[in-house]
Amino acid sequence: MDKNSMLYQDIESELLITREKIAERVRVLGQQITRDYHDRSLVAVSILKGSVLFFADLIREIDVPLTIDFMQASSYGDSTESSGFVHIKKDLDRSIEGKDILLVEDIVDSGRTLSYLKTMLKKRGAASIRIATLLDKPEGRQVEMEVDYVGFIIPNAFVVGYGLDYAERYRNIPDIGILRPKVYQQ
Ligand code: PRP
Repeated sequence: MDKNSMLYQDIESELLITREKIAERVRVLGQQITRDYHDRSLVAVSILKGSVLFFADLIREIDVPLTIDFMQASSYGDSTESSGFVHIKKDLDRSIEGKDILLVEDIVDSGRTLSYLKTMLKKRGAASIRIATLLDKPEGRQVEMEVDYVGFIIPNAFVVGYGLDYAERYRNIPDIGILRPKVYQQ
């Protein structure tokens, strides 16, 4: 997609992370994961929907045998509710007992989603669970959450593109940018 496209008018003109930087970083993360799992196989799990672009690119950079699966979770209730309860909208297709799991996220913010999912998958008997996230927003953290592979640490801004949305839009922008306030202040 061309940077003069209509969608780019809704994000700040200085991109936060360009498609070139994303590709470069994803390659490095893939190499790291390949080294760490060199004598093993893994189940790569995409947490829908935001991670799909990152997931598709990342697994092509991981040079070990793997299978893929998908999960979709959503925070239950409004943002003022601090229960941290996460609702599973789509569960894994296969059992993960005894498997090495790599959970792939687009962003870790409060940490609630991954904290909940990690605890749940541990109870199901996964041999190991690691987390790869493209973006980490440490300022948003509400629960302690250790992330194994991080693409970029970002400030507390509203970012969209490369899978990340605002009201389900902008996921198809190939770069990551900060949404212009006029879009959500309307
Ligand atoms: C986003 C993101 C993570 C979660 C991170 O998902 O993909 O799953 O929020 O936030 P947390 O660390 O505060 O829990 P979202 O619910 O926006 O769904 P989407 O991936 O379908 O956009």
